[in-house]
Amino acid sequence: MSTANIAVLVSGGGTNLQALIDAQAKGDLRSGRITLVIANKSDAYALQRAERAGISTAVVLKKECGSQQAFEQAIVDLLEKNNIDLIVLAGFMSILSEDFTRRYPKRILNVHPSLIPSFCGKGFYGLRVHEAALEYGVKVTGATVHFVNEVPDGGEIILQKAVAIRENDTPETLQKRVMRLAEWKILPAATELVCSNIIERK
Ligand code: GAR
Repeated sequence: MSTANIAVLVSGGGTNLQALIDAQAKGDLRSGRITLVIANKSDAYALQRAERAGISTAVVLKKECGSQQAFEQAIVDLLEKNNIDLIVLAGFMSILSEDFTRRYPKRILNVHPSLIPSFCGKGFYGLRVHEAALEYGVKVTGATVHFVNEVPDGGEIILQKAVAIRENDTPETLQKRVMRLAEWKILPAATELVCSNIIERK
């Protein structure tokens, strides 16, 4: 195998997906290729980013599937059909069950907008993470890319990057800075790292 096939799972704006697409265009991501983007929301802007980059897209809606199990099975079917080697959760706002995560040990990555183990786990996602960091009064936050296992945000850490908090930060300004200075850098770097390990072992 010369490159690993990557599926990116998204729910929203897709700036992390964009960082992966840009890294691939620049050659920073070269051991893997993004071959599929799956969204759990039909209006996710990330879908437009994927289409613009010529990447196949699919939408899987939990409501239409009827149950968590059927929702996850629909995702598994797409992953298998597309021979996916690595799953990247990039702003995917749905917790995957143990049944799902067990199928893909060390084959699912997630980017989280804090320095795990701070401000993570159930209920900590998106802007809420930054609200919690500001409320607590920490002076440093950041982002983490980790493997996904059955514990929400509990899998092995791959890369982290710290970002200083400013006195006049709002959740929105902090979110943007953490994305720009940390997430958009460490997600492509961790993806390259894991893909190069996958292709080496094949
Ligand atoms: C990112 O900040 C990502 O770290 C976060 O949601 C945002 C998605 O933005 N994910 C989580 O909070 C997961 N627990 P994007 O759609 O622009 O990449």
